[in-house]
Amino acid sequence: MTVLLSTPKPARTRAEPASPPVQPPLEARFAARWPTRPLRTVVLGCGVVGGGVIERLPAPLALTAILARRARPEGAFPAPVFTDADAVFATRPDLVIEALPGGPEAEALLARAVAQGCHVISANKDVAARRPDLIRDARAHGRVFAHSAAVGGGAPVLETVARLAASGAGIARVRGVLNGTSNFVLDRLRAGQSLGQAVAAAQAAGFAEADPSADLDGLDAANKLVLIAREAWGVSLDPASILRESISHLPASAAASAARQSRRLRQVAVLERAGARVSARVRLEALAETDALARTRDEGNCVVLSPQRGAQVIVAGKGAGRAPTAASMLGDVHRLIAAVCS
Ligand SMILES: NC(=O)c1ccc[n+]([C@@H]2O[C@H](COP(=O)([O-])OP(=O)(O)OC[C@H]3O[C@@H](n4cnc5c(N)ncnc54)[C@H](OP(=O)(O)O)[C@@H]3O)[C@@H](O)[C@H]2O)c1
Repeated sequence: MTVLLSTPKPARTRAEPASPPVQPPLEARFAARWPTRPLRTVVLGCGVVGGGVIERLPAPLALTAILARRARPEGAFPAPVFTDADAVFATRPDLVIEALPGGPEAEALLARAVAQGCHVISANKDVAARRPDLIRDARAHGRVFAHSAAVGGGAPVLETVARLAASGAGIARVRGVLNGTSNFVLDRLRAGQSLGQAVAAAQAAGFAEADPSADLDGLDAANKLVLIAREAWGVSLDPASILRESISHLPASAAASAARQSRRLRQVAVLERAGARVSARVRLEALAETDALARTRDEGNCVVLSPQRGAQVIVAGKGAGRAPTAASMLGDVHRLIAAVCS
């Protein structure tokens, strides 16, 4: 997944103070390496997430084109907006930042980006889960294919899993609230709203897509389990084969009846490894209020990582929304710049 590179530190002499060495900003190092050749960048999708990324793209990247479904007036964005992907790829991008809804269109465009030799940064768990071959191809050709925002939104879930796996601690179990929309909806149901009202509120807040079924049915969380299992153990799971329970099938009284028993309904995603066997499921559970997942409110995400050796690690944060998700993608952008400059 993400390229996590450490920058070599200059050797310290005895006369030097013990303070950490000062590095020039990444942007300056990038400019020094490519004074006349910024990284040509296109952004596919300028909605909640893509729009947030475009606002904060760092200077060494030159934004050459944006892809959207609907045309925009000139000047609406800092680069031309095209509705034709050919026009976007004609700008010969070095980096494709993808924030489109999951599905075959995004999949085809990511395949095209990889075939064209671009670096890719994607927020798309659907394609990342189903097409590990694209990620392998990109990396085999020395390109970055990063998707930190695909799991956890602003919470660094994949980054923490990668670090734990690399430490040799051996991850045995992963248990989490991985879908901010469903968590938000379950909290609204508990507050007495109907499913329709709760979904509309999630859409108005920018968490839920126009079609929220992947969130409510647990497919989104299942895709995220696939990405975590790949990062933790290098295993390939098929998202379609993961057992799921849907919020759409909950009885109308379920959230209130959980509340009467001092419990809170949560969409709980679990991965377990015993020897060579990995199991995965996404279930609706009424959890005690003291459970870390029950304490995860609204669009929050929370993942409890249980290593084979050592203490549990809990990663929590905003699981959805413009600012946290864009920040996660921009973290990938900065790691890419660091990789290119090293
Ligand atoms: N929202 C979150 O909190 C969140 C968190 C983590 C990950 N993600 C992931 O990020 C991705 C984007 O989510 P989002 O919330 O930003 O979605 P969004 O607000 O609906 O934006 C989607 C963008 O894609 C464009 N688009 C859609 N279909 C297209 C097509 N066929 N051709 C060209 N452009 C097309 C839309 O164009 P128009 O603007 O013209 O409609 C829009 O700019 C998804 O994969 C989602 O799962 C989202």
